[in-house]
Amino acid sequence: MTAQIIDGKAFAANVREKVAGHVARLKEEHGITPGLAVVLVGEDPASQVYVRSKGKQTVEVGMKSVEHKLDAETSESDLLALIDQLNNDDEIHGILVQLPLPKHLDEDLVINSINPAKDVDGFHISNVGLLSTGQKSMVPCTPLGCLMMLRDHHGNLSGLDAVVIGRSNIVGKPMAQLLLGDSCTVTIAHSRTKDIEDVVRRADIVVAAVGRPEMVPGDWIKPGATVIDVGINRIERDGKNKLVGDVDYASVSGVAGAITPVPGGVGPMTIACLLANTVTACARANG
Ligand code: GUN
Repeated sequence: MTAQIIDGKAFAANVREKVAGHVARLKEEHGITPGLAVVLVGEDPASQVYVRSKGKQTVEVGMKSVEHKLDAETSESDLLALIDQLNNDDEIHGILVQLPLPKHLDEDLVINSINPAKDVDGFHISNVGLLSTGQKSMVPCTPLGCLMMLRDHHGNLSGLDAVVIGRSNIVGKPMAQLLLGDSCTVTIAHSRTKDIEDVVRRADIVVAAVGRPEMVPGDWIKPGATVIDVGINRIERDGKNKLVGDVDYASVSGVAGAITPVPGGVGPMTIACLLANTVTACARANG
């Protein structure tokens, strides 16, 4: 079997088009332009690429984009003061602090200082609690993008066996909550899971989010399963720099029913969902 490719790039373009329409309506009917502030502390090269891409796409859908680039040595109190200023800025509806932060900054403290209504990453403890109790919240962008593609592919996820590989706060845990919300039977597998290949082989849906290049081989996959690959790993192969996921695409695509490629799968959906969350935050703030 050759897996159907789930085209995240095309899906994301569709989401951005809908967001642009929503932005245009907010402008026409209410005279409001949604605004997203992105805060980057330090010079992590991968973070700089993401932030540039976020800013560009924010403007492309008609929203206001503000970037705050702070020195790697920035003090916690200065960062908290900036967040307080953004929390109180009526033209800013979404605030994203790019992670990871330099070691001297307390990530939990910083994230929890963002107004939860403007927390477009969905990382604030209030949003985590709201999501886990099935209440209206801001939903983390990467898992939201994965869920949208899964719903589109399957229609209804109810009763399906889902295995999420990875237990991060950014992807693994919220992904499991979202799948549970759609009535999947959910297992979270991680580095200490015993007989992980047997656990993964039971799954109708596999979401791989561990950050280990090509960790999942084809013989872990149930024939016909849907595989969502969240990994974005840079490796050297045949003397070339290559981007690969957490699943071994060559072998997994021969067994799975459907698969997201890397690049062009989950990655583009993450930023599209960030834009969608920002427009949602703006719409909620304005009744
Ligand atoms: N670093 C890697 N992924 C993310 C994300 O989704 N949000 C933020 N704020 N930082 C990240």
